[in-house]
Amino acid sequence: MAGKCKWCSGDMEVFLPYARLSLCRSHFRNYVVRRVKRTIERYGMINSGERVLVALSGGKDSLVLLHILSTLRDSDDPKFSLKCEVEAVTLDLGIKGYSERCIAVARAHCEKLGVPHHTIKAAELAGFTMDDVASRRGRPTCSVCGVVKRYVLNKVGVEMGFDRLATGHNLDDEAAVLLSNYLSANVELLSRQSPVLPAREGMISRIKPLFEVSERETAMYAQFQGLAPVDGKCPYAIAPSTLKFKMVLNMLEEEVPTMKISMVRGFLEKVKPLLKKGETGPLRRCVACGYPSSSEVCSFCRLKKIYGPM
Ligand code: FES
Ligand code: ZN
Ligand code: ZN
Repeated sequence: MAGKCKWCSGDMEVFLPYARLSLCRSHFRNYVVRRVKRTIERYGMINSGERVLVALSGGKDSLVLLHILSTLRDSDDPKFSLKCEVEAVTLDLGIKGYSERCIAVARAHCEKLGVPHHTIKAAELAGFTMDDVASRRGRPTCSVCGVVKRYVLNKVGVEMGFDRLATGHNLDDEAAVLLSNYLSANVELLSRQSPVLPAREGMISRIKPLFEVSERETAMYAQFQGLAPVDGKCPYAIAPSTLKFKMVLNMLEEEVPTMKISMVRGFLEKVKPLLKKGETGPLRRCVACGYPSSSEVCSFCRLKKIYGPM
């Protein structure tokens, strides 16, 4: 790639069309870290001194998130520093071969970055592994897995006394979900879509510090920082329903480079305030486990009944 970095005499390694920026490797890193810090500040995601738990799957985005948060935590430069405690959790979902690799990758990166790491046997809490789910006919394993992950991560975060649960959702994820919700006119989901969800009784505050960083940027960041995500896909992975929306958005962004970020910011600033009503509807408690639920028995406890020991 020819050309020079906008901020030093180094060779350009990245061009960011939406900002018309040519950057060398180290200025690209600084640019992304600062952007994430600004996002955290703009949306009040982390207050000074708070304890943040990173949901670390071992995939690219969660590793990038861990790397950026630990960089902010360790920096003395006011432009980059953010005083907070960072720990990470990886769930053992009982997927033979794959779960072990995810845990090993997560643990190795945490050790390198000086981040305390927890492994939680989600399968033990649920009473079934994802391999059990896959061996029986019924719901797709991925959708059962999604319920288990959400439930267990929240429970662990609440019980370990963390202030925030941080996940690695990026701009492409957010924009695709937004488009999907718009197209299906799902006002309830739209009203809940947010990069920061406040804590409520029995629910930890959830934050998405990478939601203004594109998929392409997280991929480059991971590559430049030598982060090595888990090799290979989950054996039960199916193409996510948002894939087609991501493809459409990528096509549109070739014409309008600021498309995704304008769409997501525009939604948060102009549309969401009009939808605020549904956001904090009353939550009930699951009669089986006591955690918040929108129905009498929560989805996790219903799954336990279906897939757990007889
Ligand atoms: Fe949950 Fe693949 S990681 S089914
Ligand atoms: Zn530079
Ligand atoms: Zn329950």
